[in-house]
Amino acid sequence: MWAAVEGTGTPGQDGSKGRNAMTITAETRLVGLFGYPVGHSLSPAMHNAAFAALGLNLRYVAFPVPPAHLADAVRALRALSFRGVNVTIPHKVAIVPLLDALDEEARAIGAVNTVIVEADGRLVGTNTDGRGYVRSLVEETGVDLAAQRVLILGAGGAARAVAVSLAKGGASRIAIANRTPEKAAELAAHLAPFADAWAVPPERLADAVREATLLINTTSVGMVPHADETPLPPEWLHDGLLVSDLVYRPLKTRLLREAEARGLVTHGGLGMLVHQGALAFERWTGRPAPVALMRDAALRALAAEKEGKEC
Ligand code: ATR
Repeated sequence: MWAAVEGTGTPGQDGSKGRNAMTITAETRLVGLFGYPVGHSLSPAMHNAAFAALGLNLRYVAFPVPPAHLADAVRALRALSFRGVNVTIPHKVAIVPLLDALDEEARAIGAVNTVIVEADGRLVGTNTDGRGYVRSLVEETGVDLAAQRVLILGAGGAARAVAVSLAKGGASRIAIANRTPEKAAELAAHLAPFADAWAVPPERLADAVREATLLINTTSVGMVPHADETPLPPEWLHDGLLVSDLVYRPLKTRLLREAEARGLVTHGGLGMLVHQGALAFERWTGRPAPVALMRDAALRALAAEKEGKEC
């Protein structure tokens, strides 16, 4: 683990003075994001606020890396003394063979969302998406995972990370429903070592919702600019169902609003974003992440984004 690098600026008591006082120096080290595109990422706002508040001489920069340049970008991590990077679409699987090692979580998920540049220059891949999701879900709802009958909507990368971490966190019954049923079957097979998992045939979706106690939307249905959409008819929602949505644009999706109107416990997607970032922050810095501050920074960035659109 790297020792924390202290910043040249002294953080003010409220953090804000420190943010202004922090200057880039010869000792400033970089972390960042490799994705394509990366323009809407909230991670720079979250991490830079955290570095400033803790007086760490680190900066987080989002790099749009086209797939053809991924190998060059990964090689540069070592050459340029990065602490690490987050990795997002479309690189989460493609980066795996470019790294020196994966930890157990990344191996189980089969994808990487965080790279740590170790002190000896080795590039280690981990995946904080699923653990970030589970942390946020348990913290915000107090749910007992072992007691749940889980239904996951979607079978893409996010579904895979969430499903693996739920299973490792104690969820033992996991159903998967997806628009493309073959991908649901593939994910169920992937989960077999960790949980009792099965694919729901599209015509049995209503029954699967009825049987579930925890419903998780991992698809992009309901995300802006299609915020009027929802993955399920509201009449399928029933008492005792905890409804979770990975979408955080908008913060409260139509699915969550309809679940709330029915009096159900809900869980939105921002917590997963914040906690996956917090877990990456802890790996890069060796410090506990200022989670509440990171959440505020993400919320402020979202609000600014919305204002910008409305102008
Ligand atoms: P991510 O990394 O965010 O999970 P992904 O791997 O592209 O992204 O997966 C997107 C998931 O959302 C998939 O399960 C996809 O369904 P298909 O496998 O059928 O493509 C699902 N999805 C996306 N748009 C959807 C829509 N309009 N209706 C239903 N499912 C949708």
